[in-house]
Amino acid sequence: MDVTQSPRRDEGTGYEIRPPQYKSELVQVGRSKPMGELLRRYWHPIGLASDANGTPRKVRALGEDLILFRDGAGRAGLVHARCCHRGTTLYYGKVEARGIRCCYHGWLFDTQGHCLEQPCEPQGGLFREKVRQPWYPVEERYGLIFAYMGPPERKPVLPRYHCLEVMDDGEFVETDDSSLGGGGPQIIPCNWLQHYENVVDPFHVSVLHASFSGAQFSMAMAAMPEVTFERSPRGVTVRATRKVDGKTFHRVTEAVIPTLRVVPNPRVAQFTRVESIGWVLPIDDTSFRIYVAGRSKHPGDLGRMRSKFEGKFWWDMTEEEHQRHPGDYEAQVGQGPITIHSEEHFAQSDRGVLMIRRMLQDQINIIEAGRDPIGVTFDPNVGPVVFEAGNYIREHERE
Ligand code: FES
Ligand SMILES: [Fe+2]
Repeated sequence: MDVTQSPRRDEGTGYEIRPPQYKSELVQVGRSKPMGELLRRYWHPIGLASDANGTPRKVRALGEDLILFRDGAGRAGLVHARCCHRGTTLYYGKVEARGIRCCYHGWLFDTQGHCLEQPCEPQGGLFREKVRQPWYPVEERYGLIFAYMGPPERKPVLPRYHCLEVMDDGEFVETDDSSLGGGGPQIIPCNWLQHYENVVDPFHVSVLHASFSGAQFSMAMAAMPEVTFERSPRGVTVRATRKVDGKTFHRVTEAVIPTLRVVPNPRVAQFTRVESIGWVLPIDDTSFRIYVAGRSKHPGDLGRMRSKFEGKFWWDMTEEEHQRHPGDYEAQVGQGPITIHSEEHFAQSDRGVLMIRRMLQDQINIIEAGRDPIGVTFDPNVGPVVFEAGNYIREHERE
């Protein structure tokens, strides 16, 4: 049949696209939104330990504007930026021994939002205990400050991780706040889920990172892998197997709910358990950043995992070089500020993405039913979380 005569020849034009839609329940991170409430059942890193000091620092997390500081007694505090008196920002406040003092009328708040002084009021404020600056609990671990922004009665224990607790010879824990693993700048202008889904998409490694843009990582990553996806007690585990030089290379990656990237070194410097973990912090619905903590042998080892293209860092490349060597940043930001789910066409290789979306939706349903989501614990004596993730090599089994 002459296809040019087919009545179907003009189908599939852009004119047929239906109004764009995204799955708001999975992407919106604000309070009272389904995903926003799920995210608020977990601890999130909101800064490096050194970010909390005597100068108020702006933090934006889960769509909320906050101020981080450290009082004279060394306690880190995280409070809403808007002063509860008449709303100016505490960014211009002064950090003192007992807390942070608002610049406008001098109300003084401690790290838990208690109002300690109201200098314009009779006798320093007789009713000052009636107001409280909105605040969040914080804890420090692995060189990071973690915040819990959810319902106080559901506050879980801040988890420990075996890969950051048990060192091999000469190792120590190093942290990075440059959004290592994001492939671009510190603040990445698209929805966090676009990045998180990438963790369970091992096939893109063989295209985006190994052939399309030249070999960004180890050549061991270039072969198209055999892949299995599995639900774990923490999230989704991806097992990718490649045959390299007569050996079998197993790469196990985990997406741990809600935002953890447990990704072994893509440069495959050594065959070992996972070295580092990354927390994807949704800043708001259309931007995110990544905090990383990992075992290092030399200061700066973590940063050396960062991709270079023709010897250049992402920020030193021209627009034309970005077009020739796109990486994760270009692919994910290229999906738009929030990707349009109604225009996607899923294929076999997207099974991991479907699995993590279903699992996140399951957790949303669980908290809406009044229960606690996967991975949280209230037992302060619980042991560290042990991941399966890593790069492992095996001589070829005889067939
Ligand atoms: S607005 Fe902060 S003390 Fe008045
Ligand atoms: Fe990638």
